[in-house]
Amino acid sequence: MTPFVRCEKLSKWYGGVLALKDVTVEFGRGAEIVGLVGDNGAGKSTLIKILSGAHPADQGRILVDGREVRIRSPRDSMNAGIETIYQYTAMVPAMSIARNIFIGREITRGPRIAGCGFLDRTAMGRIAVEALAKVELHLRSPETPVQELSGGERQGVAIARAIHFRSKMLVLDEPTNHLSVKETNKVLEFVVQLREQGISSIFISHNLHHVYPISDRIVVMARGEKIADVERAQTSVDALTRMIV
Ligand SMILES: Nc1ncnc2c1ncn2[C@@H]1O[C@H](COP(=O)(O)OP(=O)(O)O)[C@@H](O)[C@H]1O
Ligand SMILES: [Mg+2]
Repeated sequence: MTPFVRCEKLSKWYGGVLALKDVTVEFGRGAEIVGLVGDNGAGKSTLIKILSGAHPADQGRILVDGREVRIRSPRDSMNAGIETIYQYTAMVPAMSIARNIFIGREITRGPRIAGCGFLDRTAMGRIAVEALAKVELHLRSPETPVQELSGGERQGVAIARAIHFRSKMLVLDEPTNHLSVKETNKVLEFVVQLREQGISSIFISHNLHHVYPISDRIVVMARGEKIADVERAQTSVDALTRMIV
């Protein structure tokens, strides 16, 4: 079976630091959750930044559905069906929930002049409410600025966005940092629900107790290299901890 994403021999330098070294890894073998783990500085975020179009790789290639793609911007990544949720940058805090869901993909109405039309706020508000209800988020109004939401609610908005735009894969880089236990559990539940809807995830966390229970497969990185790639059933939290430290 062709995996949704295949990274082949990706390398990345930051000045003199080799942050990623010849990494070959697949994600989305069917609808699956891959836990990406490793100590601080292991290269997890670097790999994800390449996939999400934040930074180019220096070497290697990326295949989506078996075909080589060039990911040079976040838009290229989204167009390929990859939705990335960072801890802080997924949202524009001062803008409404509805605008954040449709950011870069706004619905317009009326005559289009030079490719632009009037924003259809009513339609975006209605769809935003429907999308949020799907992730069991019932917020006061789609016009609420995102800065008034809790961390867990913001993750919910980003997940609603991924579902609405039929992303194939969601990438979450340390999504549970700074979240309460309750909010963390909610994010973990969302990711499992997405898998039931056929959406794969890459879930990065330094907390093995968050990643292990929900993952189908675990990829371990250390010093820029992939050092293990195992089915969850073939490993344990203890064995993973020994690899990481
Ligand atoms: N923008 C950057 N500039 C310079 N070095 C960086 C930058 N981003 C990451 N690095 C370095 O690359 C290595 C991998 O970092 P990173 O991918 O963030 O690791 P992780 O997410 O696993 O903690 C580290 O040595 C880190 O210091
Ligand atoms: Mg990181």
